[in-house]
Amino acid sequence: MDQMEHTETTATEAAAASSAPVRKKRIFSAIQPSGQMTLGNYLGAIRNWVAMQDEFDCVYATANLHAITVRQDPKQLKENTTNLFALLIAAGVDPEKSIFFHQSMVPAHAELSWVLSTFTQFGELSRMTQFKDKSQRHADNINAGLFTYPSLMAADILLYQADLVPVGADQKQHLELTRTIAERFNGVYGKTFVVPEPYITKTAARVMSLLDPSKKMSKSDPNTKSFILMVDEPATIMKKFRSAVTDSEACVRYAEGKDGINNLMEIYAACTGLTFAQIEDEFRGKGYGDFKTAVGEAVVAQLEPIQQRYKELLKDKKYLDELARKGAESAARLSARTIEKVYKKVGLVR
Ligand code: TYM
Repeated sequence: MDQMEHTETTATEAAAASSAPVRKKRIFSAIQPSGQMTLGNYLGAIRNWVAMQDEFDCVYATANLHAITVRQDPKQLKENTTNLFALLIAAGVDPEKSIFFHQSMVPAHAELSWVLSTFTQFGELSRMTQFKDKSQRHADNINAGLFTYPSLMAADILLYQADLVPVGADQKQHLELTRTIAERFNGVYGKTFVVPEPYITKTAARVMSLLDPSKKMSKSDPNTKSFILMVDEPATIMKKFRSAVTDSEACVRYAEGKDGINNLMEIYAACTGLTFAQIEDEFRGKGYGDFKTAVGEAVVAQLEPIQQRYKELLKDKKYLDELARKGAESAARLSARTIEKVYKKVGLVR
């Protein structure tokens, strides 16, 4: 793993420091199955999910309950959910090592979400950037679920007593609210939830649009040239990078005011493991054309093997459903302890 915002003692280091058996730190994260995944999703989140599996005790889900806060075609949602499950396995999420399932298969998410919504303040929800953005984009459907979305996200995380949550930088605000909700509940009822920390990589935590590098790369952008999809053909990926916005300096260096080049450098660094200084050395005296080609090739090298495995996996949907069912069973077992404790503390008959 590359540098993290959060400095951690690893489970192994902790074990060496004490003779007591250590509980591995628990990880939870989820992704909405709302259409295709972008390079932003991959570099900001998915790659880290994969890398964390050996060291941590990981629980991952497709967040299909979150996805319906924006109107979805039912058939398409189901298909997107299975496709996302396959894509994540193709990218390296291993159902043998991690618990991996669909959110809607474990009712405790919705149950805890309701309880936690009574510990989330109207003012807090009103300040959420994602809510503000989405209510602008879907002005005809500003539903209550879109507003209380962060309470469900808090439930996802707190249900599993997660210590760390690997996400891209755009989810940090939701994570902060999750911490507030956990602390508020613990303050009233005594220690019930682990208060989780965000786990955000320093490189590529916010992959920007290729056409407007002041905006996050997002599949909802109407111009498809602004984002790379994980399933884009290699030729398409190369073409999109060639049309990426840069600047007139013609010098590959990381600096303020060079948002386009900075973004390409972040992507290149994330794909190759090189530092910015090494990248500047590699492209000294060369033009942006060469650099863009190299970035495109580095991205293709990451995505092509995933695309091949993805196509294979999609041939057997029954197998994928079976994996999700097994994952959901383990998740239900794990979350039962928390939901029982919460109901008891709040005084809800079960
Ligand atoms: P979602 O589905 O929008 O995105 C999934 C993950 O991808 C990251 N990401 C990015 N990272 C870097 N650059 C980008 N341009 C970029 N775009 C997306 C996101 O930060 C995220 O990590 N609310 C969450 C899903 C969720 C969740 C959870 C996450 C539901 N429950 C519990 C963590 C824990 C969301 O909408 O992510």
